[in-house]
Amino acid sequence: MSSLLVLFLACLAGSSFGAVEVIQNGTYILEYGLVNNETLTVTATVATQGWVGVGLSQTGSMVGADLILGGVNADGEEYINDYFAVGNARPIVDLENNILTYNVTENATHTTLFFTRAADTGDIDEDLPVSRSSYIIWAFSDSDSFAHHGTERRGAIPLSL
Ligand code: HEM
Repeated sequence: MSSLLVLFLACLAGSSFGAVEVIQNGTYILEYGLVNNETLTVTATVATQGWVGVGLSQTGSMVGADLILGGVNADGEEYINDYFAVGNARPIVDLENNILTYNVTENATHTTLFFTRAADTGDIDEDLPVSRSSYIIWAFSDSDSFAHHGTERRGAIPLSL
């Protein structure tokens, strides 16, 4: 299909292409976009069997960021939740979970985290609207316990929506 036709169909569907970021030679692949300008969709495919995190940040820092963390534990159970960070430390679970839909899978090498949430959840205490975010931040760990990711396994990318 020609790229012009793809663009036309996407416009018809009201979706923005968003972005695909290939981080650390594909160790972390981040795909995100906006549907109808109101729903943020994110897929992170990461070479780990530990937790995977994605967040919106005004500065690129973890401090003040709005985060989603998820994974599949050793019993094969998926976990995912809505968090915010007040410091460079383990994030705090939001009182209001604003994840709309999600899917978390893990195989022998990778964890894939998919979720959707409103571009503006209305949760002014614990979430950031896409319109006020300048960066999308990412992190992961080898472990399902929420230990520090380490300086090699985190970063920030200018938001492109
Ligand atoms: C799960 C528990 C977590 C702990 C205990 C933790 C802890 C820390 C600590 C101690 C630092 C400062 C040291 C450093 O630069 O690496 C830091 C920085 C950072 N963290 Fe986390 N973190 C967690 C989760 C996350 C998640 C889920 C994300 C993103 C989705 C994230 C993104 C970042 C980023 C981007 C920085 C660099 C901040 C800067 O340069 O100002 N962290 N974190």
